[in-house]
Amino acid sequence: MRRKIVVANRKMNGDMPSNQAFLEGLVSATLSHQRADYVVCMPHPYLFQAQAILKNTHVHWGGQNMSRYQSGAHTGSVSPPMLKEFGCEYVIIGHSERRLHGHDTDTSTGERFEVAIQSGLIPIFCMGETLEEYEDGATDIVTIRQLNAVITEIGVQGLSGGVLAYEPVWAIGTGKAATPGHAQNVLSFLRGHIEMLDAELAKNIRILYGGSVNSANAEQLFAMPDIDGALVGGASLNTEEFVGICLAADRASATNQNRLVSFP
Ligand code: PGA
Repeated sequence: MRRKIVVANRKMNGDMPSNQAFLEGLVSATLSHQRADYVVCMPHPYLFQAQAILKNTHVHWGGQNMSRYQSGAHTGSVSPPMLKEFGCEYVIIGHSERRLHGHDTDTSTGERFEVAIQSGLIPIFCMGETLEEYEDGATDIVTIRQLNAVITEIGVQGLSGGVLAYEPVWAIGTGKAATPGHAQNVLSFLRGHIEMLDAELAKNIRILYGGSVNSANAEQLFAMPDIDGALVGGASLNTEEFVGICLAADRASATNQNRLVSFP
């Protein structure tokens, strides 16, 4: 039984007062709705604030990127031990905004997935095609290439320590989410690829959808059998919107549990 997970990717947004309102609001609004996992990925300078507010609550936090190195002459980078020191459990790896600007490659994302696991962090690994690739019908080719870069590095078993996210670039920040049917098809294809290599792992690994998820479309997305949650950008900047998505995940988890009870 895969537990749903909703991840806020706050990107390069926020300040101390608005972060505080968001984090405290999220904790209290989801306090009695804990059938799903909630994670907030903050800009690095605010990780100490996330730690101060979220410590000893049910809400987890993480970074939005990390270096493959532990320390050294890497100006502007943040190391895995630094994320750990501020209580991070998760880290986003290979977001398309970093891939498209040339910082991240297939090889570097594969390497950093492995380093994250070795460092005791849970990588949230992003895959997704551009609009041009989508129009060329290359969604499967691109996402499998990105996923295989990790499998090559760490072996299929290594995936088990992470979370995967399908985020079509054309859906990110555009207000045009993929239809639940399209997202389901891609996730089922990715799960099927993993299944050929390790059937048990395919059953257990969580795969998220990301790209213009909001409180209005979350319910339908979460009703799809292979969608285990969402990676949320824009809608995580509004507490009410983000809480709406978390509550949809909580309700979807309850429905799954009921299904298991009625069909043992
Ligand atoms: P969005 O971003 O929800 O604003 O589309 C998602 C993401 O980039 O992770």
